Amino acid sequence: MNSRFTNQVVIVTGAASGIGAVIARHFADAGAKLMLSDVNEKQLAAVAEEIAASGREIPAVKAGDLSKEDIAGGLIKSTIDTYGTIDVLVNNAGGGIIKPFLDHTPDTLRTTIDRNLWTTVWCTWHVVPIMKANGYGRVVNVGADSVRNGLWDHAAYNAAKGGVHAMATGLAREFAKDGITFNVVAPCIVNTPQVQKATLMSPQALQRFVDVVPMGRAGEMDEIASMVCYLASKEASFVTGQVISVNGGSTML
Ligand SMILES: NC(=O)c1ccc[n+]([C@@H]2O[C@H](COP(=O)([O-])OP(=O)(O)OC[C@H]3O[C@@H](n4cnc5c(N)ncnc54)[C@H](O)[C@@H]3O)[C@@H](O)[C@H]2O)c1
Repeated sequence: MNSRFTNQVVIVTGAASGIGAVIARHFADAGAKLMLSDVNEKQLAAVAEEIAASGREIPAVKAGDLSKEDIAGGLIKSTIDTYGTIDVLVNNAGGGIIKPFLDHTPDTLRTTIDRNLWTTVWCTWHVVPIMKANGYGRVVNVGADSVRNGLWDHAAYNAAKGGVHAMATGLAREFAKDGITFNVVAPCIVNTPQVQKATLMSPQALQRFVDVVPMGRAGEMDEIASMVCYLASKEASFVTGQVISVNGGSTML
């Protein structure tokens, strides 16, 4: 337990599972007032209960499909109704439908963009006016290192995550004088429960994603969450418009 985010209001999207749930726990351990959101209502409640049971401040929750403008707006409004302000938005909701480009259907392509890009666009669009009025804010997007190294079967996912990266650089310049920073954490393959399940089903398919990592392993969820928390903190006051890879060296520079 530490006090890095005491009295700060932090929204984490996609908090019902995997990396988002671990990010939420890191912020809870640092004393944040949390608003957690996800389309998976049941699992979201379970994560919030687990955090509350560990003796941390009880997180607020708001479930819904954040690729819809009104639902994302509702999350931001609900956070203001609950806590009166917002300091940090972590756009983590997402996830890939990883397959060769021509194996996608119109539905899987649309879902890929909805999940990763529209969730980020709408939550950001609704939160920035509040941060601008406060003269302070931290927006951290979870992107993907595959945008940088063009990983196999990631073209559609990269179209979405590339937008997530690019929006952060544009906004960083636009709001640089308003006290708001925008950054991206770009992981390589991460050791999440879903990745573990997929590895069991098809070890060879996943191995090539690990083979491109000089450290020879997937990232751990805690390693991603640590970088998210740094970029979301007051310490990162001169860091904006950056895409920071957490990738065991799989892309460099
Ligand atoms: N796991 C990896 O190897 C890896 C690598 C690079 C980037 N990422 C990114 O990290 C983030 C977390 O991924 P994860 O691996 O923990 O996956 P995950 O599927 O466990 O978590 C993603 C969460 O986002 C939620 N979500 C998806 N669409 C949503 C929507 N429209 N509205 C609200 N919630 C929605 C899901 O319900 C889920 O709980 C994602 O943005 C993902 O693209 C993951």
